[in-house]
Amino acid sequence: MFNFIDHFNTLLRGLEEEGRYRHFKTLERPVGSFPKALIHHKDGWQQTVTVWCSNDYLGMGHHPKVIKALKSAADAHGAGAGGTRNIAGTTKEMVDLENLMAVHHGKEAALVFTSGYTANEGALGVLGKMLPDAIIFSDALNHASMISGMRIGGCERKIFPHNDIDALKKLLQAQPANRPKIVALESVYSMEGDISPLREVVKVAKEYGALVYLDEVHAVGLYGPHGAGVAEQEGLMADVDIIEGTFGKAYGVVGGYVAGAAPVIDAIRSFSSSFIFTTALPPHVLAAAAASVMHLRTSSVERETQRRMVNRLKAAFSKTDMPFLKGDSHIVPLVVGDAHCVRAVTDTLLEHYGIYVQPINYPTVPKGTERLRLTATARHTEQDVDNLVAALQELWSTHAISATRAA
Ligand SMILES: Cc1ncc(COP(=O)(O)O)c(C=O)c1O
Repeated sequence: MFNFIDHFNTLLRGLEEEGRYRHFKTLERPVGSFPKALIHHKDGWQQTVTVWCSNDYLGMGHHPKVIKALKSAADAHGAGAGGTRNIAGTTKEMVDLENLMAVHHGKEAALVFTSGYTANEGALGVLGKMLPDAIIFSDALNHASMISGMRIGGCERKIFPHNDIDALKKLLQAQPANRPKIVALESVYSMEGDISPLREVVKVAKEYGALVYLDEVHAVGLYGPHGAGVAEQEGLMADVDIIEGTFGKAYGVVGGYVAGAAPVIDAIRSFSSSFIFTTALPPHVLAAAAASVMHLRTSSVERETQRRMVNRLKAAFSKTDMPFLKGDSHIVPLVVGDAHCVRAVTDTLLEHYGIYVQPINYPTVPKGTERLRLTATARHTEQDVDNLVAALQELWSTHAISATRAA
């Protein structure tokens, strides 16, 4: 008979041997301490660390307004949603948040999902399935959730090299004028730390009548005068047909959404399995998300502080020979280029310097480009930045990590 346990143990041993078995750290994040956190080690040791890999880029998960909104909605409406959106989960907080997100992105309508992942799956799945003979042009580095959505949609897909407008143009040119076309991309590529050339993408897409689908997951809250993302920053919100985002990163809560023209959003609401067949987010989560979005629409102090820390980090790396990727975004990837080596670096950072960064391995990034993905937040201090760079420099020389490993 088939030995299921042996089989899974073999698979897991394989991951361990390749250096990419995922070791989770048990974190406690006391309110008011971020980016400091407590790691609960398996032997009972509790270690205070500085977190350098959080997507709570602005510290909004601990913002008093967000916590207050969460608590009062929980006091008023309890813990759960009571069902799927169809059954009993369409609460007033949900409708209010969807109206807010539509206004935020200058669109007719928005639809909230349980995560950014399911939003991408749901929206791209419906576009691919419901548009007759559709074809999606997808950036080679698009996120797993977008790939999953395109697979669910099942339509033809052409991959263009990352941020390569000429290649995109050639692919679009080769298709009949009246075929439904979708260009799917991200604004901020979080593993590369770069920002897509959105203006050029929009121009080419319009030329060939393609709909633009933009994942702004790592940009909402952070870019643009109201934090509506790179499209807002570039004055392109009206040109991007569908904007997809999350409440789980810069907004510090959880949940995802899409915003766009009313009939498109209504079609996604009507046909997406990942929207229909799951319990809705509860009112307290929605209220917290709304409080965070509203705060960041008018407050830019968090964005400015974060940008200052990001600039300090990049400036400090520039004075070293460390191979960080010089993108325009707030994320600073540092390529190590080997799964075992990146693990050794992160283990040493934790053990000897109290610095917590998770290694990024295949399949999140290609083999041979394993890296640290460093995120300076609005809550880091100049001293935190200086400590990180000093620790990495020390490690770089002692571990003889070659700068030539950089991609
Ligand atoms: C580009 C991109 N899109 C979508 C998601 C999924 O968002 P969420 O974490 O809200 O599910 C992520 C998450 O890491 C992402 O990086």
